[in-house]
Amino acid sequence: MRLSGITPSGHPHLGNHLGAVRRWVSDGGPDDLYFVSDLHAMTTSHDPSRLRARTSEMLAVLVASGIPAERVFVQSDLARELGALTWVLECTCSYGEAARMIQFKEKGRGQAGVRLSLLTYPVLMAADILLQGAEEVPVGLDQNQHVELARALSRRFNGTYGEVFTVPRAVLPLTGARVRDLTDPTRKMSKSARDAAGVVFVLDEPDLVRRKVRRAVTDGCADVVYAPDERPGVANLLEILAGCRGGRPADLAAGFTSYGALKEAVADAVVETLRPVRERTVELLADPGELARIRAEGAARAAERGEHRLTSAMRLIGAGAPA
Ligand code: TYM
Repeated sequence: MRLSGITPSGHPHLGNHLGAVRRWVSDGGPDDLYFVSDLHAMTTSHDPSRLRARTSEMLAVLVASGIPAERVFVQSDLARELGALTWVLECTCSYGEAARMIQFKEKGRGQAGVRLSLLTYPVLMAADILLQGAEEVPVGLDQNQHVELARALSRRFNGTYGEVFTVPRAVLPLTGARVRDLTDPTRKMSKSARDAAGVVFVLDEPDLVRRKVRRAVTDGCADVVYAPDERPGVANLLEILAGCRGGRPADLAAGFTSYGALKEAVADAVVETLRPVRERTVELLADPGELARIRAEGAARAAERGEHRLTSAMRLIGAGAPA
């Protein structure tokens, strides 16, 4: 089965959609689970009521994107199970392993009062994956290292205490694995970008999407060529186009003679890709009763599915009541 999550630390964007959520829909199997990782949104300074609102929005976006309602849940609804398993896995993980995570280094660098949870959050992510016995974890490139940690911890636990965890593997997309910021193509598109001009949000109105794409940074050349290292802005636009329409970025480049025409095609493709998601999200958010029902049912199902692995892991590591 497949499992993956998305953190409501901001509004979902095109990178989340092309790099992750869209594939969760198209490649989905009947046992897959997808969730809103709200506990992960608390590793840096956060506002509780805003987090709650964003969690609901993210749940609505997942369902609006086409993930069947019976396959989604919210992470904090399993806080007890995940908290217990995180502790077990922290006792399987070395400090050095956690401190090596690139996201910890990037987000914690130069900051006073870094939360301990920023260091340990990849272990919680391993708990998310291992509790449910996921075989495959569809993510964008930036999460690959965290899935590798989950692999290492599952192997180590199984080898040291006894076989209980499935060893997961990351599944990366062919296109859209790293959508870049439109105004700064050296950076990935991110929910927490300081300037929203380079980030296309899933819920942006079509006019705003068009404006953002038209203002995307390119370069001084005139011809349209796919060269990610030398011309990252144009390469990003071609990758986005390939992500929305299919095809390969290098082949698509041949169809354009100007940046203006390329940008118009990208704007059209992005607007059409996001339109149904935005419309359905708005409908769902207008029906809080339906969202609450989806959330409660999802929590019950996910908790029940993971329970036996937590019980076995506790027993094997020498904790909990004897069998
Ligand atoms: P998050 O919320 O940062 O991202 C959600 C998914 O979107 C992908 N992604 C991108 N893909 C392409 N281009 C981008 N610019 C881009 N930005 C983000 C991410 O790779 C991810 O697949 N810790 C995770 C959520 C999580 C999780 C898990 C994932 C929690 N527990 C267990 C898998 C399994 C996160 O914060 O993702």
